[in-house]
Amino acid sequence: METIKDRIEALRKRIEKLNYGYYVLSKPEISDFEFDRLMKELEHLEAEHPEFFDPNSPTQRVGSDINKNFVQVEHVYPMLSLSNTYSEGEVTDFYNRTSKSLNEPFEIVCELKYDGTSISLTYENGVLIRAVTRGDSVRGDDVTANVRTIKSIPLKLHGTNYPALFEIRGEVLMPWLVFEDLNRERAESEEPLFANPRNAASGTLKLQNPAIVASRRLDSYLYYLLGENLPFDGHYENLKKAGSWGFKISDAIKKCETLEEVFEFIAYWDKERRNLPVATDGIVLKINSARQQLNLGWTSKSPRWAIAYKFQAESAETRLNSVDFQVGRTGAVTPVANLEPVLLSGTIVKRASLHNADIIENFDIHIGDLCYVEKGGEIIPKITGVNKAARFILGDKVRFIKNCPECGTPLVREEGEAIHYCPNHFGCPPQIKGMVEHFVSRKAMYINIGSETVNQFYNAGLIKNAADLYELKAEDVLKLDRWAEKSARNFIESVHESLSVPYDRALYALGIRYVGETVAKRLANAFHSIDDLMKADYEQLITVGEIGEVIARSVLNYFSIESNRRLVERLKNYGVQFTLREDELAEKTNKLNGQTFVISGTFSLHSRDEYKVLIEKNGGKNTSSVSAKTDYILAGENIGPAKLEKAMKMEIKIISEVEFLKMIE
Ligand code: IVH
Repeated sequence: METIKDRIEALRKRIEKLNYGYYVLSKPEISDFEFDRLMKELEHLEAEHPEFFDPNSPTQRVGSDINKNFVQVEHVYPMLSLSNTYSEGEVTDFYNRTSKSLNEPFEIVCELKYDGTSISLTYENGVLIRAVTRGDSVRGDDVTANVRTIKSIPLKLHGTNYPALFEIRGEVLMPWLVFEDLNRERAESEEPLFANPRNAASGTLKLQNPAIVASRRLDSYLYYLLGENLPFDGHYENLKKAGSWGFKISDAIKKCETLEEVFEFIAYWDKERRNLPVATDGIVLKINSARQQLNLGWTSKSPRWAIAYKFQAESAETRLNSVDFQVGRTGAVTPVANLEPVLLSGTIVKRASLHNADIIENFDIHIGDLCYVEKGGEIIPKITGVNKAARFILGDKVRFIKNCPECGTPLVREEGEAIHYCPNHFGCPPQIKGMVEHFVSRKAMYINIGSETVNQFYNAGLIKNAADLYELKAEDVLKLDRWAEKSARNFIESVHESLSVPYDRALYALGIRYVGETVAKRLANAFHSIDDLMKADYEQLITVGEIGEVIARSVLNYFSIESNRRLVERLKNYGVQFTLREDELAEKTNKLNGQTFVISGTFSLHSRDEYKVLIEKNGGKNTSSVSAKTDYILAGENIGPAKLEKAMKMEIKIISEVEFLKMIE
């Protein structure tokens, strides 16, 4: 008879196999519905039978919600880069050089150069035990928890004939479609956009929260095996074998014996790469035999047995007609070039970013200039230079404006920042409208209106800020075009319903710079009401996990402005939730009330950030340096001797992680 354990194992095997079919082979076997059903059954059984817990179960790929500090890990073999070439001539040189050094026949493996972020994976007895970023090539960040959420990376290998211990390297990628979705969402909530899928992939791998990483749908291609007991001498043969263990290995890979074959591969993929779901920026050529690789050796930066041939970034030349300056919700001013329309990688480009004042100055760009536009990996094309040789008549020099194009206020530029801002946050129309749009958006107060309605209200003089929404009556909106009894009633109801939106979302709705959804949650958990948050000083803010200098300063700055405080006060009076609700508070205790902690050393049961959260959740305070106010030092391994000595002198209690966990049990 099938026991529960058998059923759990069968489900795990089946789901892993389906994942492999879906994410690696791109051949889904069953419907999403059917798949979800299997997954739900497994989740249910695992929840009922924690004794069968397995960290490698497919259910664990969703990523836990716990924050992890990255630990630095030294690479067993340094992660070198490749030397780049840009012409067929240089490829020929590489071939001739290799031929001369080896003085025997050799094979060259051609692969695509994937444009993501590199990763090193270590497998022991067929189980993924570590994933490390490239870092400074000698040591990188241990991002295992995040990498475990990438569905095309096997947690357990298929079959049995893999080496007991080996490393495999490859690229973590964000597919174009996922990248575009993500940027669309970020644009909606006015978060900064990722410039290209590479930045998005590496940014995602460095997130502190594996659950968010899981939602970003990263993909991977593996392209390099390392270890003592690899099955073959040939790199190509090893990669194919690795494919049978469950890794995603590209099919765009070819073993060549002549230069002609290499050039054929390059020419083919230079065109065909446009149809790939992920970004590529060149071709990698590798000598196939490990014995010959050893023979050719390495320089300090890169192997002598491989080179990269980089595709030309697509660029076009066109005329600059004029420059606009756009003001966003936060007041940031972006210069945008209006161009003579030009065809670039399949789309017509009319507008391109001119970045910022420094770059405009550097280009010394004038109206009427012929300039170069590139699309590269970016969605927004950019100007990359000016063809000064083609300048016959000199138009007006482009200068960054001094005053806001919308409200006339003199622009400011903070020290060390490249961006100009309009500081008139409460009087500048696009900023006001942008702020209200953000306030009503789905992840904030979820009030049922879009940007057109916000515009309409603003133009009719009905609203000057978000708080005015709560003053509106059905009669007011009924006077406007396109409004009827029913829609007006729905709107008023939706405004009323927003009063039950929880504190963290109301905080997010304020649109404080750098306070996105996650940060807002963090702040709400650490400061149980907005009054507490407004009273917090810099020191208190940065002790909250994930809140760094930039965010802390932005929060302080926001509340230092009188009109912001007035806005909050008004919202509070209308009934917007600015305190943690009873049920949210219930997860909290006051076991550590009034106690101040300093965390020092490294821990084995939880990460430092998790301890920070635990201290906060239980009512304690967490500070960075030992002082007379410190009650406890939560000491891990390798606690600094200076700290230890100071603590002993001041007779501060030093507790271990086990003792700490007992305190909050
Ligand atoms: S092999 C020692 N193969 O390019 C050789 N690298 O500048 C190790 N890359 O850091 C790299 N596609 O992130 C190799 N098919 C491929 C690649 C590839 C992309 C990246 C990788 C590496 C960088 C080298």
